[in-house]
Amino acid sequence: MATESFGIGFVSCGFITRELHVPSVEYLPDVHVAGIQNRTRDTAADLATECREAGLGDPTVYGEGEVAALAADPDVDGLWVTSPNFTRVDVVDGAIDAIDDGASLRGIAMEKPVARNLREAAHVIDRIEEAGLSHAYLENWPHEPDIRKMRELLWERGRPAGRPYLARSQAEHGGPHSAWFWDGELQGGGALTDMLCHALAGNHVLLSDPERPDGDLEAVAVSADTETLKWSRKRYAQQLREEHGVDYESDPTDDYARATVRYEDENGEPVISEASGSWCYVGAGVRRTIELLGPEYSGQVVADEESSSVFFSDSAGNGEGWAEKQTATSGRMPIDAASAVTGGFVAENRDAVDAFRDGENGMLDLEDGRRILRLCMAAYRAAETGQEVDLRTVDLSTYTPPPARGRQRV
Ligand SMILES: NC(=O)c1ccc[n+]([C@@H]2O[C@H](COP(=O)([O-])OP(=O)(O)OC[C@H]3O[C@@H](n4cnc5c(N)ncnc54)[C@H](OP(=O)(O)O)[C@@H]3O)[C@@H](O)[C@H]2O)c1
Repeated sequence: MATESFGIGFVSCGFITRELHVPSVEYLPDVHVAGIQNRTRDTAADLATECREAGLGDPTVYGEGEVAALAADPDVDGLWVTSPNFTRVDVVDGAIDAIDDGASLRGIAMEKPVARNLREAAHVIDRIEEAGLSHAYLENWPHEPDIRKMRELLWERGRPAGRPYLARSQAEHGGPHSAWFWDGELQGGGALTDMLCHALAGNHVLLSDPERPDGDLEAVAVSADTETLKWSRKRYAQQLREEHGVDYESDPTDDYARATVRYEDENGEPVISEASGSWCYVGAGVRRTIELLGPEYSGQVVADEESSSVFFSDSAGNGEGWAEKQTATSGRMPIDAASAVTGGFVAENRDAVDAFRDGENGMLDLEDGRRILRLCMAAYRAAETGQEVDLRTVDLSTYTPPPARGRQRV
């Protein structure tokens, strides 16, 4: 029997689970970590011990191939799918097969991106919907307190002057921490799917009228560019070969991407979303700038590396970092102590749990995830063909981005 407290079952426990989702549970009333499933069982067991020590629950540990057992665990009320992009179809099949066999869940929440392409997205969404489960898309940007507040202020006070017409978001860091992100087939793309996925979702929400949850914007066209700026260079390709076993001289993915999405509002007026991102930034962790502009107003959220920071001299440093994507241990580094809160993970998880308790979908659901993935696919297609993609007519349902085509690459 599920207790009053909502039990989360995590599917895999890599960086995002360990560093952000599990710490967020401390801030969630009547929520506990009920189960952790992971390919390497020992890693799940270690995290389960940390959960117990921190008073976040007494999770049962599941190993490779045990997603169905996690879903069938009576203490698990919702699955948080935080496994790599290429596992999404198998994970959802495992969970829904368990439901078909009598397991009961209140909902499934999935990390960004929903899947690697629209074929996979259709499969997972169809199965979850057919099982009658609530769902949520775990995209933290729109839940970030500063971004949320900026949207609220500008829409509320700027409305008499007119709706916002331009959102600009940029997100970059020095490159992912795990090998699978660098492999185009496993990840589904490169920096575009990994970074622009956030920026396009953030822009979409900022530009959408908060009083019109059904949506007041239609995405009509996408133009985009992708490049490999850094990681196919001999020296860096060698580094990737040694660290991650991928070959960026023969099989690069994009490490830079930019996309412009043209929307139309209800009156046919243009509204623009500009997104750019890269894995080429060398600096103190992740850099982001998010802006929203309208006829008599503007707002911005900038990742601030300076306000709370620490510095260690060379003689004190031991060569290890602590912040996301830290690429140096000398220089000033952000402390970033409350990133589960400031990064929007507490709010997104609270939103999903509350929705699942009420039998509803999250503020962002898997259809929103599919919409963002479609923009990513359109951006790859635009970059590939060098032509703007007309979203009203294009069929991207079977499209695979060039970096994800593997050896059949054309
Ligand atoms: N919202 C955000 O800001 C944000 C940030 C980072 C990531 N994410 C998303 O979260 C997801 C996970 O990213 P991450 O950074 O946590 O990844 P990660 O640190 O690389 O962790 C990967 C996890 O997946 C497991 N795994 C690896 N290969 C597997 C396989 N073949 N089959 C089953 N499990 C496998 C690993 O298990 P082992 O312990 O056995 O190696 C590990 O637990 C991604 O979809 C990513 O896009 C979101």
